[in-house]
Amino acid sequence: MIKTFYWRDGAFYILNQLLLPHHVVYVPCRRSRDVANAIQTMVVRGAPAIGVAAAFGMALAAREKKNESPLAHSRRIMSAAVTLGATRPTAVNLFWALERMKKIVAGYPTQRSQKTLADLLLQEAQHMLVEDIAVNKKIGDFGASLLKKNSVVLTHCNAGALATAGYGTALGVVRSAHRQGKIKLVFVDETRPYLQGSRLTAWEMKQEKIPYCLITDSMAGHCMKTAGITAVIVGADRIAANGDTANKIGTYALSILARHHHIPFYVAAPLSTIDGAAPTGDDIVIEERPGKEVLFINNKSIAPTGTVARHPGFDVTPAGHITAIITEKGVVKPSALKIRIARPA
Ligand code: MRU
Repeated sequence: MIKTFYWRDGAFYILNQLLLPHHVVYVPCRRSRDVANAIQTMVVRGAPAIGVAAAFGMALAAREKKNESPLAHSRRIMSAAVTLGATRPTAVNLFWALERMKKIVAGYPTQRSQKTLADLLLQEAQHMLVEDIAVNKKIGDFGASLLKKNSVVLTHCNAGALATAGYGTALGVVRSAHRQGKIKLVFVDETRPYLQGSRLTAWEMKQEKIPYCLITDSMAGHCMKTAGITAVIVGADRIAANGDTANKIGTYALSILARHHHIPFYVAAPLSTIDGAAPTGDDIVIEERPGKEVLFINNKSIAPTGTVARHPGFDVTPAGHITAIITEKGVVKPSALKIRIARPA
């Protein structure tokens, strides 16, 4: 399985997703700032992947050699967490992972060695990486049990191995179902304007030899009506306590189309994507990206000079449009989220 990132000899290597599908290049990050840049510039993206990368960013901060007191060392690591947290606002896994790392720093006695703290942080980041893959495999298996033989799945954006430490959430379900011989075809939305579908999901499907067909986002309704789609499966960047779900822009429209065509609409996400501090989707911050991402493709302008464009990176799908949320603990209706799922401490 392709690695989204890995640690080797004191550096954290991130697969540069901006160069996919044509080039497989890993970017070495030796400082915390390198990881923050990689997240901000979308070299690495996808909620769980951002979270794990940020954890390694904190581990790197702890290893940066400075002549400083233990207190200054801890403060510098905490300030790296602030920089990492300022990269992208919507994916809650980023803040979840940073909190987990910050707890270790806050609970570490200042009289103990800085090296031990750095080692502890690296261990925790490595643990998160392994844990994320295990969680995704469970999501995959729970999700696959919902699908029947000859399933035709539509997915949006990339919620695959590349969006996580490995295996993927929505694509984890597809992977598990494919292994069980249940997948007839996967419709891959290209996902304008950043093209995570055509560049990343199509690439993953090709690697795994899973039958897929690329469509533009605007073809989804027609395909639901005419191509026998049996399920829509997407990932999530943040799930509010009432089940409203923020995911890549375009997901909301897909949920309306799925409802109209009586097609089950599943969200696959780890428990770390649930934000108990956000009562509803209205409490989720939506990242507003530069309009130029809509106005240019491969640096080529596609609109008259001076055109104003917007690029909200995400939208919120109301809980009522979601058939079920697939987590590592099982499948749950969004309305039952609060009572059925205890958020991990
Ligand atoms: O802007 P991106 O590419 O980071 O957005 C990614 C998505 O919206 C994914 O669907 C989501 O993070 C879930 S990834 C398992």
